[in-house]
Amino acid sequence: MVVKRAAGSRVDLVEEIKPDVERLLNRHLEAPRLWYPHEQIEWGRGESFADRPWSPSDYPLPDGVRSSIYVNLLTEDNLPYYTCSLFDHAPADHPIRDWNHQWTMEENRHSMVMRDWVHVSRCIDPTLLEDGRRVQMRKGEVPHPPTFADLICYVSFQERATQIAHRNTGAHLPKDDRMGRNILALIAGDETKHYLFYRDLAQAAFVIDPSAMMIATLRQISGFAMPGTGIPNFTRHAVRIAREGIYGLSQYVRDVVNPVLALWDVSHLEDLSADAEHARTELAEVMARLAASVERLSQRSAGSVALA
Ligand SMILES: [Fe+2]
Ligand SMILES: [Fe+2]
Repeated sequence: MVVKRAAGSRVDLVEEIKPDVERLLNRHLEAPRLWYPHEQIEWGRGESFADRPWSPSDYPLPDGVRSSIYVNLLTEDNLPYYTCSLFDHAPADHPIRDWNHQWTMEENRHSMVMRDWVHVSRCIDPTLLEDGRRVQMRKGEVPHPPTFADLICYVSFQERATQIAHRNTGAHLPKDDRMGRNILALIAGDETKHYLFYRDLAQAAFVIDPSAMMIATLRQISGFAMPGTGIPNFTRHAVRIAREGIYGLSQYVRDVVNPVLALWDVSHLEDLSADAEHARTELAEVMARLAASVERLSQRSAGSVALA
């Protein structure tokens, strides 16, 4: 039986969501993805960088694809700070702490396996990568969503965005780089499972406290940026990645926000507070502006294709 609350009544979302966290964590654990980073690498292809320094001709790639590998790997490197950010909203004895540990354990192998592939395949400059890692990790910058509702909205979008970015990067690699394509597909598969956890946790939260979730959704969609804060020259890399068709505004709207909002069914939420109703109206306006921007972008690129 669903017990309806009066609009605006106080709800302890963090406390009430405990059974859903346990349910979704158990679902996650029942289908483990047991792949080993060391088994994905063709070690025999590796060469000493001291004997033969890196050159772009080692692995010819468009700039946008190199930028995507660089940004995605540095984002995975930044894991310690994301873990800290998740613990901001994880009280003692709450099952979300168990999830955070599981999530951190799984994410940790992404940077390991990507770096091994990068070094063996020579697909990007390892010196540039290490310089970027040092700069980024000394800053320790990651988003800190202000509430638990904001956190689960943000991570739902973020995991989905990361899944799309890894998947599309893999699709832009040469067909004969089976090692790279396989590794990015494995990582994208992990991100899919993380996305499903958060997406469904958020859906449960919409039942418990629809008003808080509605307001958080607006806040997170309005302010969402692909993880990358602190990466040197991030904006330049982001432009290249978008131009390459890997990840940009079009993918954010079409592949990330639209499917998630459709699943959460925000347009049919009931019993919203006045502030949450206002947020829903504002969200519709934000989505209309985003759709118009995507349309302008696609017309511009269609125009440049026609001129080419
Ligand atoms: Fe990851
Ligand atoms: Fe993930």
